[in-house]
Amino acid sequence: MNHDVERVLLTEDEVREGVKKAAAWLDEQYKDCKAPPLAISVLKGSVIFFCDLVRAMQTPVQMDFMTVSSYGSSSESSGIPKIVMDLAAPVEGRDVLLVEDIVDSGYTLVKMRALLEGRGAKSFTVVTLLDKPARRKVDVKADYTCFEVGDEFIVGYGLDYAQQYRNLPYIGVLKRSVYEK
Ligand code: PRP
Repeated sequence: MNHDVERVLLTEDEVREGVKKAAAWLDEQYKDCKAPPLAISVLKGSVIFFCDLVRAMQTPVQMDFMTVSSYGSSSESSGIPKIVMDLAAPVEGRDVLLVEDIVDSGYTLVKMRALLEGRGAKSFTVVTLLDKPARRKVDVKADYTCFEVGDEFIVGYGLDYAQQYRNLPYIGVLKRSVYEK
């Protein structure tokens, strides 16, 4: 275990199981779809989950990426998610699958939904690995959540603190001494 991590919240096996269940749920949702959904990874946090999720799905998907950032190196959302890199593909008329690592304040999700529906997406489905409802500032929810978590500072499997720990294969609680120093 990384020495900055206090304890493991979700092991690699638990995460893998959660991803498998999300993929099965999505396959059921999209079983009658005529055209492949456009799966969008909200970078950078969701990239690891995204790669595992699309590979666990049977449904053929197309992929696109968008970099959205509202935390910088702070632990509080700025409340204004900034689009750092936009999608390459148009979403008009597409079934959009938005893949998030975490819904926290909810600002990012609200912004993405308004943006993509405004661009004419045919349907909009959100799957998130984690949900932290205790921190919600706006009333929004993913269509599918793998795990609900408490109000703890978690890292790993895509989630960072100051751009570190994203490549831990599990989700762990960060030691207070790391972010309070
Ligand atoms: C994180 C995370 C989500 C968003 C959720 O992104 O990846 O996209 O915050 O938080 P919210 O519900 O409070 O909006 P962040 O802005 O930290 O960028 P990152 O993905 O590059 O880490």
